[in-house]
Amino acid sequence: MSLVECRGISKNYKLGETLVPALSDVSINIEKGEFVAVWGPSGSGKTSLLNLVGLLDTPSAGQLKIAGETISTQDDSSLAVLRNKLIGFVFQNFNLIAVLSALENVMLPLQIRGESPAQARDKAVSKLDAVGLATLYKSRPDQMSGGQRQRVAIARALVTDPAIVLADEPTANLDSVTSDQILALMRDLNQKQNVTFVFSTHDPRLLASVSRKIRLQDGQITPEENS
Ligand SMILES: Nc1ncnc2c1ncn2[C@@H]1O[C@H](COP(=O)(O)OP(=O)(O)OP(=O)(O)O)[C@@H](O)[C@H]1O
Ligand SMILES: [Mg+2]
Repeated sequence: MSLVECRGISKNYKLGETLVPALSDVSINIEKGEFVAVWGPSGSGKTSLLNLVGLLDTPSAGQLKIAGETISTQDDSSLAVLRNKLIGFVFQNFNLIAVLSALENVMLPLQIRGESPAQARDKAVSKLDAVGLATLYKSRPDQMSGGQRQRVAIARALVTDPAIVLADEPTANLDSVTSDQILALMRDLNQKQNVTFVFSTHDPRLLASVSRKIRLQDGQITPEENS
């Protein structure tokens, strides 16, 4: 069983009266422990694909299975439960909650699933340590650098021990030195803890470091350029 199984996935967005095709007949498998980049031109469907695998959206057609769970016509609330159980998501603009400290941001997914504050706190502290933020628990996002915010976002994505971590252009808002550090952190988590990462990216450094590339063009996978 693959960790992610996409079969004939299509995604159309409704824009007024028209349908905008974003993905068409995409079939891929991703295995546990992979470090994969989805790449391709702007508008090729990278974010759309990550959002589907990340259970932030549902396909217009096709079948999706994640960690053996068939994702079909779940309503929003059951999708949210599955997302909390299976997925860690890192966004390009970090998406941290501004009024919460780093620690509170990382505790949140655990509190959503009903863990006690004490247990959530212990797990969040250990993930913040793991991403190198041992001294910044109390800081709010606006008191942190971009690289530190992305570390908080990675800790938040990891704190639930998800089956897969998805990251949409995780280095796009970071300078090159910080990008390298974030990339090294993710690579380390992949190699030492077998965390499965799927990125979308334009970043050549990130592309150079992955073990597999999935190229999209006009919403379709271009087979000859995958490795
Ligand atoms: N919410 C939406 N409503 C309508 N059309 C959308 C929506 N989101 C994406 N699209 C369209 O779907 C197609 C794929 O977009 P997507 O954002 O997945 O591409 P991308 O590869 O992530 O691009 P980028 O590199 O610019 O982030 C594009 O034609 C885009 O305009
Ligand atoms: Mg995108």
